[in-house]
Amino acid sequence: MISEKINEALNRQINREFYSGYLYMSMSAYLRESGLFGFAQWTKLQASEELEHGEKIFNYLIDRKGRVELEAIQKPEFNFDGPVKLFEFIYNHERSITKSVMSIAEQAEEECDRMTSMFIDWYINEQVEEEYQVHRIIEQLRCFGEDRSSLYLIDKEAGERSSCKCSDRT
Ligand code: FEO
Repeated sequence: MISEKINEALNRQINREFYSGYLYMSMSAYLRESGLFGFAQWTKLQASEELEHGEKIFNYLIDRKGRVELEAIQKPEFNFDGPVKLFEFIYNHERSITKSVMSIAEQAEEECDRMTSMFIDWYINEQVEEEYQVHRIIEQLRCFGEDRSSLYLIDKEAGERSSCKCSDRT
């Protein structure tokens, strides 16, 4: 059995992960409209990953005899004022997700819930990777993004992302 407090925190996290998926889909639409097809593909893949993150918690709660209670998903932003602002938005969003994951880890530790601690460790590692990848794109865009042909190449490289971000690490 899982405690009421951790059950609620995990339900909130399911909502955050599904909202993240919705947000990345909204970004993907914006990027396609802007002709940045590589970034559009990158964000679309990210959207799928976020849904998987939500589903993983969904399954964990059921396995632990918890209660899944899905809440309404808020409307995502849809206007991003260019790729730099968009990736800065992602970075801030992912940092807020890191915070909420860390808070679940702290609660699990307080309650000596070793199973949830181990489960949530995966999310902590995932957040390290996500923040790194997004920051890397922001740095590239800030350095070279003003130049149209460089922007084309950065966008193209982002579009070559495989579903696992780990293999893209350089
Ligand atoms: Fe699943 Fe981007 O956090």
